[in-house]
Amino acid sequence: MKAYTLTHLHQLPELTDLEMPTVKDDLALIQLTASALNHRDIWITKGLYPNIMLGAVMGADGCGMLNGQEYIINPGLAWGRNESFQSPEFRVLGVPDDGTFADFISIDRTYLYPKPDHLTSVQAAALPLAGVTAFRAIIKRAQLKTGEKVLISGIGGGVALMAMQYAIALGCEVFVTSGSDLKIAEAISLGAKAGYIYHDPDWPKKLLSDAGGVDVIIDGACGAGFNQLVKVCLPGARISFYGGTAGKIEGLNPQLIFWRQISILGSTMGSDADFKDMIDFVDKYRIVPVIDSILPFEAIPDGFKKLMSGEQFGKIVFQH
Ligand SMILES: NC(=O)c1ccc[n+]([C@@H]2O[C@H](COP(=O)([O-])OP(=O)(O)OC[C@H]3O[C@@H](n4cnc5c(N)ncnc54)[C@H](OP(=O)(O)O)[C@@H]3O)[C@@H](O)[C@H]2O)c1
Repeated sequence: MKAYTLTHLHQLPELTDLEMPTVKDDLALIQLTASALNHRDIWITKGLYPNIMLGAVMGADGCGMLNGQEYIINPGLAWGRNESFQSPEFRVLGVPDDGTFADFISIDRTYLYPKPDHLTSVQAAALPLAGVTAFRAIIKRAQLKTGEKVLISGIGGGVALMAMQYAIALGCEVFVTSGSDLKIAEAISLGAKAGYIYHDPDWPKKLLSDAGGVDVIIDGACGAGFNQLVKVCLPGARISFYGGTAGKIEGLNPQLIFWRQISILGSTMGSDADFKDMIDFVDKYRIVPVIDSILPFEAIPDGFKKLMSGEQFGKIVFQH
């Protein structure tokens, strides 16, 4: 079969001929119909991820066929029994385990979920990693409630966009930040109230003047910009973050946090229950992931280049 494997660090994955995966015990052989990129795939090619294994098939997100039924694959393997945190065995599909950038994948049936009918294969492939990460961060950790005001940072990101769609589905007022006016305009066309350029040091003042502050913040960047997030928190606000694209949080003012009873919550991927609840939520509200581009399987390296450029708005998906 054909697969994109990580052959060298600091290079894009290479198209490789591999033996068909072995299928034993509870494993199922899935013929992949579509897959999608995540920032994680970029970190892996740069060597900035734990447990990197050269030669492994890349790709965490995928959707595929088994016995005439189409399934979404949960890429979070071996979460374990505790809903509060993942087990030491937890890992994400696609390096070191062989992933979804391939014709076939052999995977335990417990990670397969029937594709909701309202989604096409490519839309379903855009969902797993970003969908479950956003779901746990905003619904399970931040406990978002209907009618609350929410800020989602870096709205061009895959996880950020899913979080925005969940918040809009729940009837929340959504505000966003981005490095691009164009992406803010796109977010507003999808239902966001307003957006702010995160490079503008005065954006918190503008948000405070427009909205008075927010109840929930979802962030994937951290870095110096985290201090700006704290400024727009209403008393009792929850900040849930799942990534550190912009690096360490420095210079955080403790008074701003404890006096206003702010909760800062770290969140990673999601348990099997989170994944199931996410699929049910997407099904109930008929949510369709925002897709930036659909490329053929052979153009997977072009997808990497586009995500590295940061130009995307939504998921980059591959049709197999
Ligand atoms: N813990 C987990 O389970 C988990 C799961 C998924 C992802 N992550 C991490 O979360 C991050 C985002 O992942 P992704 O797949 O959604 O990435 P992505 O689709 O590549 O999006 C990254 C986004 O980050 C935003 N960004 C860049 N610099 C920023 C800044 N200074 N302030 C605010 N936003 C900034 C950009 O938004 P604009 O384009 O709007 O400027 C960009 O679109 C990555 O670091 C990833 O490794 C963690």
